[in-house]
Amino acid sequence: MPFVPESVSPLDQAGLDRLADQARDAAARAANLEDLGRLRRQWTGDSSALAAANRAIKELPGPDRAQAGKNMGAVKQAVFAAFDHRRQVLEETAAEAQLSRETVDVTEPTERLAPGARHPLELTQERIADVFTAMGWTIAEGPELEAEWFNFDALNFGPDHPARQMQDTFFVDPPGSGLVMRTHTSPVQARVLLSQGVPCYVAVPGKVFRTDELDATHTPVFHQVEGLAVDRGLTMGDLRGTLDRFADAMFGQGVRTRLRPSFFPFTEPSAEMDLLCFACRGVDPACRTCGGSGWIEWGGCGMVDPNVLVACGVDPTEYQGFAFGMGIERTLMFRNGVKDMHDMVEGDIRFSLRHGVEI
Ligand code: DAH
Repeated sequence: MPFVPESVSPLDQAGLDRLADQARDAAARAANLEDLGRLRRQWTGDSSALAAANRAIKELPGPDRAQAGKNMGAVKQAVFAAFDHRRQVLEETAAEAQLSRETVDVTEPTERLAPGARHPLELTQERIADVFTAMGWTIAEGPELEAEWFNFDALNFGPDHPARQMQDTFFVDPPGSGLVMRTHTSPVQARVLLSQGVPCYVAVPGKVFRTDELDATHTPVFHQVEGLAVDRGLTMGDLRGTLDRFADAMFGQGVRTRLRPSFFPFTEPSAEMDLLCFACRGVDPACRTCGGSGWIEWGGCGMVDPNVLVACGVDPTEYQGFAFGMGIERTLMFRNGVKDMHDMVEGDIRFSLRHGVEI
């Protein structure tokens, strides 16, 4: 139904006041600016009672016109003022609402790009290299595709040594190529001795390959760090001291180690270095980590066999050497409590974030 305000004579002061009151009420009740615009047109537009009264002024006899004009002026002013005031209030409210809608919560977590992480094995290799660099050793590398001669012959492996058999070694086509994927980092011993001579103190971290199935404790591609020191007067005591400092640096001061007699073709005498079991500390006969022995194997070591020195042109009556080869996966397992080899090869970012970020 169209809005039809009561019509009022411009001389009817009480009627005009009532009109003004109604218009002011309407303005005050406007809920928003749109509403206010509509009400303003209703109460002051061409078809409003106010406009009609205004128009009626000129129909009045002369003497009444002035009075009517005055009345109308005051009423119009009051009504317009009421609408202007309401507009101001609604504009402020709208501005405030917009501000609070657009508020930025600076404490809200942002969508940051994840920083990523190094591969934990890579990081462990770097830490190992740091330990030896700090002891004054140099770091060397050798090829992963290696001559059989370096991988076996130079290291005193006889032609019929079981380590040459297919179950351990990836031979490289064609048969008789004389090439293998290196099964250990030890061939770099011979390469370094031949290229750099003596005295020598060198550590060689790197990848090695064996025909093992991937399971919780094996992987066909793994990592070792080889150590070789050749100088005058080196003894098994120097070997022990070096490995104990290495163990301290990797696992914490005072970690217990032991040397257990063993055999390698390229060392004499040979030993395995064991670490006191990090899970049971050597006291749980049912421990799953050490099988109840109390010790975990870390790697092989020994005094360099004179045959190796001779094969590399070093006089064994003048020089002695010690060597060792530690597993880097094992080192990471002991150091960070990693239980399963799968984690190291699967490349899951959660593993890297947990073990590959250093502060
Ligand atoms: N190359 C041996 C292996 O892969 C580990 C090793 C044993 C390295 C004794 C050495 C060593 O340098 O002296 O099992």
